[in-house]
Amino acid sequence: MAGSPPRAAVLGVGAYVPGRVLTNHDLARMVDTSDEWITERTGIRTRHVADPDVATSDLAVPAAEEALRSAGVLPEELDLIICATTMPDYLLPATACLVQDRLGARRAGAFDLLAACSGFVYGVALGAQMIAGGAAQYVLVVGSEVLSKIVDWTDRTLCVLVGDGAGAVVLGPAQAGRGVQAVIMGADGSAGDVLKMPAGGTRLPTSPETVAQRLHYVRMDGRTLFRLAVRVVPEAVAEVVRRAGWTLEEVDWIVPHQANRRIVEALSRALEIPFHRFLCNIDRYGNTSSASVPLALWEGVRDGRIREGDRVVLVAFGGGFTWAACALVWGR
Ligand code: ACO
Repeated sequence: MAGSPPRAAVLGVGAYVPGRVLTNHDLARMVDTSDEWITERTGIRTRHVADPDVATSDLAVPAAEEALRSAGVLPEELDLIICATTMPDYLLPATACLVQDRLGARRAGAFDLLAACSGFVYGVALGAQMIAGGAAQYVLVVGSEVLSKIVDWTDRTLCVLVGDGAGAVVLGPAQAGRGVQAVIMGADGSAGDVLKMPAGGTRLPTSPETVAQRLHYVRMDGRTLFRLAVRVVPEAVAEVVRRAGWTLEEVDWIVPHQANRRIVEALSRALEIPFHRFLCNIDRYGNTSSASVPLALWEGVRDGRIREGDRVVLVAFGGGFTWAACALVWGR
């Protein structure tokens, strides 16, 4: 329609993971676990882990630079930087501001977004609306995590799941028939305890006691999260597809949060969408929280599975409890 604001398209994708790889066999030497248990229960075989001197922004910046290069957008053209992360470099200032400075994106506003593993898809939903509303032309959304610094490496229930990494997209105005068609954001705060870092905030400020009790590490009720994901995510996909005016059969690719291969298999069964239409790379990266959707998207674009005109659904769930989905037609 003449005069209507443009939809937002993904103009470029980037990713970055640290070089160090930790295998299930390495973990079996650290905690009471086995390659067989991790592979069967989660689908994870290896994950990337950052060196001790690496922080969230150190992964975010190279991912963002690749996304900008592939989009053909200069840092100074960015209007907004949204950094989705579960654990920023500092609680203040925002990691997005550190990224803005290092990219030289001097015109851009910048803020962090905390929606745990759903953060990147929340960011895409927000950035797309900023563009569609005419408030921004180019938005960088980056999901970046150094989860290895917030898990207790003596807790086998969590340390075997996580990996470090970052993924980014540059959003900009779409041509007719391309770009973001519908978004969904949801939350159920009553389930906040299922994934929690008890200390370090205003409820339980850091003290020698909280450190001694290891309360600065993430704690997870994995079984409840599993059940929530399998209930909420298929509904979110079905709803975003309905809002986009598509049918589930018309979806070419689902890019889900990579928390557990069995969760992705359960989504495939619930939605009656074959597993081969889900982009799943959890075997090599583990759960990278807000970086997982852009990492899977980046692989799908790089290896040519996602093509111009494909109908793609991004979907994530995570701590909060939160979820988000985004339906887009691939292409600029
Ligand atoms: N190695 C060996 N045994 C283990 C391990 C391990 N690493 N972890 C747990 N076990 C044991 C348990 O103690 C339990 O033993 P028991 O039967 O003697 O009590 C048994 O294995 C089964 O444990 P469950 O918790 O029932 O195993 P389940 O099949 O549910 O798998 C898992 C656990 C992988 C955590 C799964 O529930 C899951 O993936 N949940 C979703 C997690 C998620 O979505 N997290 C998102 C955010 S995480 C983040 O972002 C930081």
